[in-house]
Amino acid sequence: MPLPTPLPLPDHETVSTAAAGWIEERLVRQPNSLLCLATGGTPMRAYERLAQHARSNPALLAQARILKLDEWGGIPLDRPATCESYLQESLIRPLGLGSRYVGFASQPTDPKQECARIASWLAAEGPIDLCILGLGLNGHLGFNEPADSLQPHAHIATLTPESLSHAMIAAEPVRPTYGLTLGMADLLQSREILLMVTGTSKREPLRRLLDGRISPSFPASFLWLHPRVTLLVDQAALA
Ligand code: GLP
Repeated sequence: MPLPTPLPLPDHETVSTAAAGWIEERLVRQPNSLLCLATGGTPMRAYERLAQHARSNPALLAQARILKLDEWGGIPLDRPATCESYLQESLIRPLGLGSRYVGFASQPTDPKQECARIASWLAAEGPIDLCILGLGLNGHLGFNEPADSLQPHAHIATLTPESLSHAMIAAEPVRPTYGLTLGMADLLQSREILLMVTGTSKREPLRRLLDGRISPSFPASFLWLHPRVTLLVDQAALA
């Protein structure tokens, strides 16, 4: 069964420690893994811990390749709200991973062309080995938003009101006008997926995910089709 009811960990900190350990274990086995990384509030502490460990053990991330899952379209890349800034500050810059890091630009002159660039990079370098995801309040994964149909590869997303109310961009004066994201097939073709779900705000989406009904109106439900998903949740989210 791909998504067994998880045993909850006490809190966000223990989920973050477990997530960092999960990633590290796999990096030791396959040092040149391609990691796809979500941003948002859920995974950042895990990335901080990973960076701490990589500082004392530089071999850990010495060969890994990193792909940014998604980005807010229209916000300048160096603003603190972008997914780029989250990843640059937590992992890429402190560990000097820039030459092995790839991600969507946030203000491309031609967003369609930018999606094609990321899609062809992934076609050549993929599939993703380790895909680290968070659960959107509306069930989105990256910016694969609830819709009548989902898109397989990198694409421009129409952001839902839930996404436009995300805490990442609450203090950002420039409003995103669209999202750029890897597609559902890109995620489902990952060799392994780690989904972290923490906090009381995620109770309802987690309940819906564990329900097991697969629908494009709740994109995370497609994780039921993947054979190797690890779900790390805390007590607040599972209560
Ligand atoms: C954001 C990002 C996703 C993230 C998700 C959950 O909008 N586009 O990559 O995983 O929503 O965010 P959070 O972890 O802050 O709840």
